[in-house]
Formats: sequence, structure tokens, C-alpha cells
Amino acid sequence: MEEKIITENWNKINPLKIDDYFSVGGYKALEKVILGKKFKEHIDEIKVSGLCGRGGAGFPTGEKIEMVFKIKDEKKFFICNLDESEPGTYKDRSIVDHNPHLLLEGIIILSLIIGAKKAFIYINGNYKKQIEILEIAIDKAKKDNFLGEKILKSKFNLEIEIFEGAGAYICGEETALINSIEGNRGEPKMRPPYPTKSGLFGKPTLINNAETIANIPWIISNGGKKYYEIGSKYSPGTKLFSIGGAISKPGVYEAPTGITLKEAIELAGGIKRGKDFWFAQVGGSSGRILTKRDLNARLDFYKNAEFPLGSGAILVVDKSTDIHDLLLSWMGFFRRESCGKCVPCREGTFRLWEIAKRLQDGEISERDEMAIQDILWTLQNTTFCPLGKFAATAFQGAVENFKDEIYKKCK
Ligand SMILES: Cc1cc2nc3c(=O)[nH]c(=O)nc-3n(C[C@H](O)[C@H](O)[C@H](O)COP(=O)(O)O)c2cc1C
Ligand code: SF4
Repeated sequence: MEEKIITENWNKINPLKIDDYFSVGGYKALEKVILGKKFKEHIDEIKVSGLCGRGGAGFPTGEKIEMVFKIKDEKKFFICNLDESEPGTYKDRSIVDHNPHLLLEGIIILSLIIGAKKAFIYINGNYKKQIEILEIAIDKAKKDNFLGEKILKSKFNLEIEIFEGAGAYICGEETALINSIEGNRGEPKMRPPYPTKSGLFGKPTLINNAETIANIPWIISNGGKKYYEIGSKYSPGTKLFSIGGAISKPGVYEAPTGITLKEAIELAGGIKRGKDFWFAQVGGSSGRILTKRDLNARLDFYKNAEFPLGSGAILVVDKSTDIHDLLLSWMGFFRRESCGKCVPCREGTFRLWEIAKRLQDGEISERDEMAIQDILWTLQNTTFCPLGKFAATAFQGAVENFKDEIYKKCK
């Protein structure tokens, strides 16, 4: 079940040695792109693969690349989204920890294909270890002429800049991320126009998640069809799962899309000895709650999937956990991370956090019970960006599934 594309060489090569990456075929896909077929044919190959964005929204990657490729403009940008501030998610950082050149190779290929001479890696500034690894890798790639002027003696030039964000969850959202690089307040912008048309400094910009990018060298080397044959037919390929909580071996695991929740838990060694599965939260703090009856649910990116995968984080919760602690922790996070641009989210997350506190203290009123439903509806339907919806997801799931536990202190 553990199909390996991104993690194939983890713990086999030294991430700080570019020669180790060469020894497993590293930078061969880039050579193929520069010396071989026309870029359009590579885009078609990525479209055939069915790869869709691993940042959470699942947008078809090939189509997005094509949109930027087709625009005629002297200046275009590529951005690797490595903000990864979703609690419980650490798969993008793990790529850097284990194989930074795989990510760089993907970034270079996509930048050249769309015609960008400048690429950014946008990373949460608290991730010092990964920033250091990336700096070393970029330096080595430059020395070996995979970056900089006239890459591999071709006509292509590319510079990669690491941009350290201040560590705000909303800056992972692509338009807020662009604002942040431009030196503006990190809050989302109205779309359309989409970044593909008018992105960084108003120029066509391709933004991809780090995991999405790390699939690209494999697809170029092995072909789109081979990739399409892996995993679910709705969103083919593999997915990195960050699995934590009441399980035996917390960590990052790669598996085909469409595996069941039960299979994902087994990948991480199963439920911890002496613990009893209660529920799992899939997709980080903004994820849905899956209970025992959902253990055979398939985890997919398909837009109508019953349980969207989101960032791929799975938190396994056992019966010894106090649901009130979780509610308070979720709402504390969203209250802090709401950027404040729109009232429903700014106020709604704060009010839900206050209610979560009263629930924990057993001081809930009848008015609070009604208010919960109103606030959840408001967050789900009226906020400017998806963060508002995210803030409501887990709370809603908890109220629906564990009403007795939630209100038990109030009786
Ligand atoms: C509140 C919020 C936070 C997000 N955080 C991230 C993030 O940390 N990393 C990421 O790649 N995408 C994040 N996204 C999704 C991005 O906006 C965007 O869809 C993604 O980077 C596109 O890349 P992909 O097509 O490869 O998935 C976030 C979206 C929202 C609404
Ligand atoms: S929903 Fe929240 S994070 Fe998004 S714009 Fe409104 S206040 Fe900001």
C-alpha cells in the first residue's frame, strides 16, 4: 500500500549532498526538459497524470500551469508555497528535511516551463532548520549550473529567493501570500483576477504547494500515464499524510490517494496500545471529524469527496481526550489567526472561542446554544475567504457527533 514517489529516497540519501541526489537520478528530469521535448508536451504529460494541488484545494495542476504558460508577458513568477502553518501538518517541511533537491528540481522545471526568471519559496519564518537546508541546496544547485545564468548551457536563467513569512496561517492562502511578499498586510485579496493572470506585482504567477511540486520530476521522468494509474481515479497519485495523536508511530507516510481512514491509521502502526479510537480529524485544525462509522471512508481530493483530504494531516483522538480542550484549542487557533479583514470571521471566531470557554467551565446558557448554530452558519456562508469556513468545520462536527459529551458539564 505504501507507494513511493516523493519519499522513495528518504533516509537513503544525505539531503545536504547534491552528489547523493545525482546518484538516484536527480536533475535528470530537468535535463530532459531543457534538452528534450517542447514545454507544451510536458504540460500535456502533467495534465494526463491527473495531478491536482496538494495544498488543499485540489485544483488540476496541469491546467493551472497551462494558464500561465499561455499568457504572453516578459515577466512571470513562480511561487512554491511552503508556508505550512496548518496545525498537525509537517509534510512539506519533511520534503525539505529529506530531499530538498527534489523540491528544487520541481521548482526549476515549472519556472522554466511557464517562462519565469524568478521564483520564490515562501516559507513560514519560524522554520529555521528548513530555511538553512534550502539555502545550502540552492547554493549547491547554483554551483552545478542547475540555477542562475544559462542553466545547463541553455538560454534559460532562473533565480530562487527564499521569502520568510512572519508565521501567519492566512499567509498560506495564495492572495494573502502575494500581499505578504509585496510588503502589504497579509490578508486575502478579492478573486478574480486569479494569480495565474494577475499575481505577484500584477504579473502572471504560478503558485503551487511544495508537495505538488515534488511530484513533477517523477512525472516528467516516468510519464503522466504511469502516474495516473496510481491511487484514486478522481485525484490520482500518492499523498503525504502527517499522522499523529493516539497512534503507535506518528510521522509522515506516503500512500496512494483513495486509501481508507483505517488503512491510513494502520500505516502509522495502528492505535496506540491501551487506547480506544474515538474519532479522527482529517485535514488539520480546519478538517472534518470522522468517527468509527467512517473508518472505511476513502480519503480523496475529488471536489465532491465525502471527506476531503485537505492538507492530509490526520489527528487520531482517543477516549481519554476531553472534547472541551479540543474545542478551546481549535477556536483559540482560529481566533488568533483570523486576519480581521471581515466582520463575520473576526467576530465569529472570537464568540465561538468565548462559548468554548464557557462550555469547558460548564456555564453555558440557552442563548449560547442558539448562538452556536447562528455563528456556525455565518462562518460557513458569509466570510470573505475560506478561513471562516475552516473555523466552523470541526466545531460543527463536534456538535453533531458529540452533543452529550459537549453539554455534559452544563447539566
Ligand atoms: C487559510 C488558508 C491557508 C492555506 N495554507 C496553505 C499552505 O500553508 N500551503 C499551501 O500550499 N496552500 C495553502 N492554502 C491553499 C493556497 O491558497 C493555494 O490553493 C495553494 O498553494 C495552491 O497550490 P496547489 O494547487 O499546488 O495546491 C491555504 C488556503 C487557505 C484558504
Ligand atoms: S474569513 Fe477571516 S481570514 Fe478570511 S478575510 Fe475574513 S477575517 Fe480574514
